[in-house]
Amino acid sequence: MRNTLVFALFVAFLSTVGCGRQLPDVVPTTVAEAVTEVPTAVKAEVTVAASATATIEATVGAELDWATLIADADPAHGEVLFGTFYAEASFACSNCHNNASEDRLVGPGLLNIAERATTRVDGISAEQYIFTSILHPNDYLVETYVADLMPKVYGDLLSEQEQYDLVAYLITLK
Ligand code: HEC
Repeated sequence: MRNTLVFALFVAFLSTVGCGRQLPDVVPTTVAEAVTEVPTAVKAEVTVAASATATIEATVGAELDWATLIADADPAHGEVLFGTFYAEASFACSNCHNNASEDRLVGPGLLNIAERATTRVDGISAEQYIFTSILHPNDYLVETYVADLMPKVYGDLLSEQEQYDLVAYLITLK
């Protein structure tokens, strides 16, 4: 019951920011904060600087054979997954990410993510970056965002093929 209430509040928050109102200047540090308060920008920047460099090398992994994986993947299924609510994560991707704009919802808007993804981390492809972002959200934190906002459970909830389908879908967002 309480969870339902919290989720309802969160959805109310999403619809508020989604209606063209001015976004707050600062990114929330937790989903609860996204609903109730806005933390200070300074705190967010310090955390980003520390964790982005500390962990990126550790788990980003070797490049997969993306040409083959994308050719065999099903982006239409990826789109369905993007909108699927997972109780274990408490959210669908689409609760936190716009797919038709670059505007922030809770996380960054994902329109044109393929282009931005090539600039995020030196030496890895856009596909590898997006894949890593889904499986290990804290490996690389987008500037001004803080750790632990994006659920870290999608790697367990999605099959390997589903992970590739999602990557294939996200690179179509242009
Ligand atoms: C509770 C909110 C939330 C949910 C749900 C969520 N994300 Fe995120 N996501 C974020 C935040 C916040 C960031 C930025 C911080 C970071 O880099 O981890 C982010 C970052 C990303 C990025 C990197 C974006 C960039 O500009 O570099 C991708 C790609 C992404 N998420 C995809 C997904 C996908 C796919 C799903 C569903 C499987 C998902 N996210 C679910 C909040 C969320």
